[in-house]
Amino acid sequence: MTARILDGNALSATLRGELAAQAAELAARGVPPGLAVILVGDNSASAVYVRNKVAACEKVGIHSLKFAYPQDAAPETVMAKIAELNGDPKVHGILVQLPLPPQFDEKAVLEAISVGKDVDGFHAENVGRLSQGQPAYFPCTPHGVMKILEYGDIPVTGADAVVIGRSNIVGKPMAMLLTQAGATVTVCHSRTRDLAAHTRRADILVVAMGRALAIGADMVKPGATVIDVGMNRFPEGHARAGKLCGDVDFEAVKEIAGAITPVPGGVGPMTITMLLANTVESAARAAEGER
Ligand code: GUN
Repeated sequence: MTARILDGNALSATLRGELAAQAAELAARGVPPGLAVILVGDNSASAVYVRNKVAACEKVGIHSLKFAYPQDAAPETVMAKIAELNGDPKVHGILVQLPLPPQFDEKAVLEAISVGKDVDGFHAENVGRLSQGQPAYFPCTPHGVMKILEYGDIPVTGADAVVIGRSNIVGKPMAMLLTQAGATVTVCHSRTRDLAAHTRRADILVVAMGRALAIGADMVKPGATVIDVGMNRFPEGHARAGKLCGDVDFEAVKEIAGAITPVPGGVGPMTITMLLANTVESAARAAEGER
């Protein structure tokens, strides 16, 4: 039997429609949601991500400010801009696109963002709040995955979930959100001894390895839910060389899994949708006067 496709584009369209209505309502109350995006350096992938984020903001009625700095920018210049944006009441979210050039202390930059405007959910206080199950801004990619599971009616409580990847952006917060939702979570990574032994036990398998087609059908339990966070290109020699693919061999795994996200059109659009959701939520808090 072929797996049910968990369509991130369709879910994003639904949620972005709701967010546009909320943004319009906030604008009518004199608080149009605003997001400031900071891009430093000439990482071409980052430039594309930032362009997509800004375009998505405009479509739902979030006004966006973009600040671009050269590769050799002085950290003090960027820190001064963050301080200015922290104090700007028209800005409800501040996002610094990662990675930053080597002269930057990434942690110090993320900590400089006001906790209430940290719509990426990377500030240590938001991470701490997430780990304690307190309300917080959750990092956008794992938050988007939880929405896919929720709207896909995938049972999480009591499920065996396996997360591959231990990054601060995806793997670690993903494990915390799944734990919070009642799953029994295993985090695997590049040093895991027998990866397949873990993945074959998973009711929910979240893959964030950054390696094209790394998960084949033999690594997946029949009927499992497979969430592919990867964004790679099919390798040279493949019939689809150069086109986008995930970390999961979609064509093979969809014959085994119960439900699966495609790449593109799965997790990717949901990451941006949750950024918009966090920004609208921050503006709503500002409108209620509880910054
Ligand atoms: N770089 C890769 N993913 C992300 C993300 O979600 N947010 C930011 N700010 N930078 C990233």
